[in-house]
Amino acid sequence: MLVSSEALPLAKTGGLADAVSGLTRALRDANVDATVFMPAYESALDGVSDLKKVAELPGLIGGDASVWAGWVADTEIPVLLLRNDAMYVRGGSLYLDAAGREFHDNGVRFAALAQAAMRISVGDTPIRVPHVVHAQDWHAALTPLYLHAAGARRPKSVLTIHNLAFQGNFPMELADALHIPQGYRGMGGVEFWGRLSFMKAGLMYADRITTVSSTYAREILTPQFGNGLEGVLSQRAHDLHAIPNGVDTEVWDPATDPFLPEHFSALDMRGKIRNKLEMQQAFGLPTDPESPLLAMGSRLTAQKMADLAVRVLPMLLADHPRLQIAVLGCGEPAIEAQLRVLAEQYPRNVGVHIGYDERRAHLLHAGADMLLHGSRFEPFGLTPIYSMLYGTIPIASRVGGLADTIRGMAEEGGADLGQATGILFDGETPEAMRRAVERALAEFAQPQRWTAMQKNGMTTHFGWEASAAQYVELYRTLAPVAPVGAP
Ligand code: ADP
Ligand code: GLC
Repeated sequence: MLVSSEALPLAKTGGLADAVSGLTRALRDANVDATVFMPAYESALDGVSDLKKVAELPGLIGGDASVWAGWVADTEIPVLLLRNDAMYVRGGSLYLDAAGREFHDNGVRFAALAQAAMRISVGDTPIRVPHVVHAQDWHAALTPLYLHAAGARRPKSVLTIHNLAFQGNFPMELADALHIPQGYRGMGGVEFWGRLSFMKAGLMYADRITTVSSTYAREILTPQFGNGLEGVLSQRAHDLHAIPNGVDTEVWDPATDPFLPEHFSALDMRGKIRNKLEMQQAFGLPTDPESPLLAMGSRLTAQKMADLAVRVLPMLLADHPRLQIAVLGCGEPAIEAQLRVLAEQYPRNVGVHIGYDERRAHLLHAGADMLLHGSRFEPFGLTPIYSMLYGTIPIASRVGGLADTIRGMAEEGGADLGQATGILFDGETPEAMRRAVERALAEFAQPQRWTAMQKNGMTTHFGWEASAAQYVELYRTLAPVAPVGAP
């Protein structure tokens, strides 16, 4: 049972949703009877077919709740939804109200998810008990604690860290309301600088911990990337494994993607131009197949170096009058505002769409020539992989999963053009980002080299199979039973 706040297409604010649904599908393809357990947000209730109530959970944290089972519509992925409409059916986004403030009761909302996962897992409901409980990120990270406190007759737990920067830290006064037993409240438990930390709880009590790339698994043991949890992680280093994400190629394949006006592949790239023209239109830019089109598509936050990009883009525009820039994203209001100003200053060069828009995201990866994706840290980084698969060259930071999945061009120790799939840069100076884009523009001016690099990325295999097999191995060590369907 994968316990998560997000899963595609039911609820998504970032890569967590893609990763959870991609893994679930891949596990099922590998004959593991994987189920997603998540809150019954309105979008989730809408997106699940054959919904029926399968359990009552009276007296759950946050109030009486029930569990509903169904299938992600048009798929064979089973889901269990935790239903408490007062908590999960609200305006705003999954975590924020319409004014962009965190919901005041996020601690309660996600403790309820974890407690419900525990109650299902110890056989408190008619729902079949899972062999392994796999909690995803801080929202689900109290699950291992509740399981640990439930005693010996419980399934083993895994916590996957998708992003250590989001920890779910709340006032310690919540401990009673969240049913944290006394013995779990100290420094050896949930306490983190005087607060109650969901992520720390997961790190302390999960039987195994995984994270989503090898480089990030090493980085988070250091103060620079550990977000204060490097000590706890180092204590548990023996149980910490790196299993990279894959890409769900049923969703991300330019040869079949239903969002694209024309399909293409490494064998026949002609359709990419039509996507470029359509993208230029969608972002209010002059339609021109020749101008280099640079995209940015991500949360507009410090993690994604969006603050640095707003400083570097005007420098690039000053030197490259034909450069076109298209931005899709939302995040910090100040960065959003600066990007809007840039679009006003350079109406023929810069198109900005502030908001969350699935169709546009697909078009952006298909239509752009290059993707600027700076990251101060990046646990995995799905976006640049989507771009590579769509023949769009990533210009990215050499950190975390990006260092593992993008083969940087030669110079500074990268691959030569024979294998290169992108351009990597180090550090977070404007100069480093600018130089990396300049290199991309110089390559773009040499079509043969550019096409070779595009094809390298498009033909790289990023499927989930190998990673799912690693999870299966891990589950096996925790629950030595044959997966359903195995001989
Ligand atoms: P993170 O999870 O840190 O945000 P990833 O690159 O791993 O980074 O995953 C981000 C996911 O969210 C991708 O599927 C990307 O396409 C999507 N995404 C981010 N911003 C937007 C947006 N404004 N509109 C649509 N999709 C977006
Ligand atoms: C997080 C990370 C991102 C990763 C995603 C899925 O949101 O920021 O790097 O790709 O989770 O694991």
